[in-house]
Amino acid sequence: MIWRIRILALLVVFALAGVGAWLLVRQTPETGAGSVGGLVVDAEIGGPFTLTDQNGQPFGLADLAGDYALVYFGYTFCPDVCPTELGKIATVIDLLGADGERIAPVLITIDPVRDTVEVLHDYVPLFHERLIGLTGTPEDIRAVAKRYRVYYSKVESAEFADYLMDHSSFIYLVSPDGRVIAMYGYGTDAGKIADAIRRHIQG
Ligand code: NI
Repeated sequence: MIWRIRILALLVVFALAGVGAWLLVRQTPETGAGSVGGLVVDAEIGGPFTLTDQNGQPFGLADLAGDYALVYFGYTFCPDVCPTELGKIATVIDLLGADGERIAPVLITIDPVRDTVEVLHDYVPLFHERLIGLTGTPEDIRAVAKRYRVYYSKVESAEFADYLMDHSSFIYLVSPDGRVIAMYGYGTDAGKIADAIRRHIQG
């Protein structure tokens, strides 16, 4: 009889876990927040924008034609964090295989004065053949960064090309309709990001 009680107890546990998972999933659309494998995202973050790509052409999320985007705000002179995170984005896309084809990697510069179209044109292929580099006027960049809650600030530096940019570092997963559905903080493992994105895309 004991094994029957144990099986019954297990069934109850599974049922409760199921209800819990259902409540969590059900909650997501109501709050407008996404949280699968990343930080909880406020529904107000993100949205469409139009900037200039590394070929001098206007580029907006609508140009992705139904694809997802992995968006990173950084700058080409960054000595450490940005190259690490851009390399990670490339790794994530490779890890995703066929699903990775549905994701456009995007770098938006937060140093538009130095990151001209020409500078981005030379820089982005170093990380991924499909990486899109975006620049614009300082005002345009300021407006887009604000909507994505990106912090950045100039820091004088005698060592590095006059100045560095202090900046927040998040990789944003943007859905085909332009919503930020997840964000991954600096240091998040590429494999974990890839697993989370796979759940978003296939779920
Ligand atoms: Ni950086």
